[in-house]
This record gives sequence, C-alpha cells and structure tokens, in this order.
Amino acid sequence: MNHSVPQGEIQAYLDTQSGQVMEASSNLAALGRRLVPARFRELTKLLCTRLVKPLALRKARSLSGDGREVRLHLGCGATALKEWINVDLFGTRANLYWDLRNPLPFPDHSVDAIFHEHFLEHLSYEEGMGFARECRRVLKSGGTIRIGVPDFGRYMLSYAGDGAFIQTMRPDRPTRLLALSEVVYRHGHRSMWDGETLCHILDEAGFHESRQKASGDSKLTPAPDTDHRKAESLYVEALG
Ligand SMILES: C[S@@+](CC[C@H](N)C(=O)[O-])C[C@H]1O[C@@H](n2cnc3c(N)ncnc32)[C@H](O)[C@@H]1O
Repeated sequence: MNHSVPQGEIQAYLDTQSGQVMEASSNLAALGRRLVPARFRELTKLLCTRLVKPLALRKARSLSGDGREVRLHLGCGATALKEWINVDLFGTRANLYWDLRNPLPFPDHSVDAIFHEHFLEHLSYEEGMGFARECRRVLKSGGTIRIGVPDFGRYMLSYAGDGAFIQTMRPDRPTRLLALSEVVYRHGHRSMWDGETLCHILDEAGFHESRQKASGDSKLTPAPDTDHRKAESLYVEALG
C-alpha cells in the first residue's frame, strides 16, 4: 500500500471532479447551462422532453413513414449521425426528443437498425432490461442492434493488474480506485457492463447471435462507432 500520497491531493482531486457531469453540447444546451443551475439541468431536460412528447410522437411517425429505411441512433448526445434518426432528451443534437425509459414511439418490427453508444450505462439494470425489450419489439427480424458501452470488465482487470488501461483512460488520479469509481458513479452512470452481461441481457430480450465485436467491426456500413469512444469501449452486436 502506498501511503506517500501528498497531503491535500485527494481534496484537490475532489475539487476538480465536483460538478463534472457529461453534457451534450448544442446551442440550446449552452443556453440551458447559462440559465439553469447545474443541479436542476437533468430534471429540466426530462420535463421539457415530457412537454414536447405530443410533437415527438407526430415527428416519429413522419420520420419513419412511407416504407423508408429506419435506423435509430439512441442517446445520441452531441453526435448526430447522418441518415439515422438521432434520439435523445430535449436540449441535445437529437432530431427526436424522447425519454428512452418510455416505450419507443415506433410500431413493432418497423426499424432496420439500432445503435447506441455510451447510453445504456445511464439506465439502471431494470430500465436497461425494459429498454432492450423495447429495442427488440421495434427491430425487424434480421435487423441489427449495435451497442457500445464503457468496458468495465477491462477497468477491473486493469485495477487488479498493471493499471495501464486506467492510467491511459483516467490519468494521474490519486488512486486506481478513485479512477474506477468515476466510471461507476460519475457522468450520471447507473449501471456497469462487460461483454458477457451485455450479450446475456440481449439474449434474454429475444435477440439472436449476440457477439462482442471490435470497434469498427460491424454488419452496419459504415460502422457507426465514434472514434473518441474507441479506446474505452466494448461493442456487442445482435440480430432481431
Ligand atoms: C454520455 S452521453 C453519450 C452521447 C453519445 N452517444 C456519445 O457517445 O457521445 C449519454 C446520453 O444519454 C442521454 N440520456 C440519458 N438518459 C436518457 C433518457 N432517459 N432518455 C434519452 N436520453 C437519455 C443523455 O442526454 C446523453 O446525451
């Protein structure tokens, strides 16, 4: 055990961490940050999303009608993918504002592909299970779902091993445990994932052939993964 941590280092670390919640950036989000105190922001986004729900229902119908290909990018944050319907809470770059803890506003077996990256860990396991079932309900038979999450299994191996991955992802924290606890408790995270658990939940939700995949290795072309998530993430793909 290393007891040579300089006095005040942990307090200084906590000071830098406080108030650091990952937020999607858009003009609306920037305005929101100026107008709404940090502790009310999540609630405000959820309330505004609820207020615009009737409009969102109409928009979902118009975006997915006419037999066109429907690809859902859920929990998109600041990353709006071209040719995908980008879905997130009010105040983000989404083209559809929707609280994804609610049933998806699309009919059964009407969606060709689903992608979400660094979103699932923002739901509890109970919410995640319900959400996975909803994804299965709307996905066409043979359609692809691709999910990226922080690779918590790898963080754990690094904690028990040489610490190199933790040092790369979250450098110079006073201890490895503090780095690990950021992944668990900060950024609004409510669940942690490894490949085994993610495949299991997808199997249980009724998907087929769930497999862990490398970043960029996908049935979807082009692979929708974002570059800056590559180092920290694991991906799982399955079929409807
Ligand atoms: C860490 S960000 C990830 C954004 C983007 N996918 C990325 O990888 O950069 C998580 C996103 O999930 C969204 N989110 C969290 N809870 C949500 C909910 N209940 N419904 C819809 N979106 C939600 C947040 O607004 C945020 O944009």
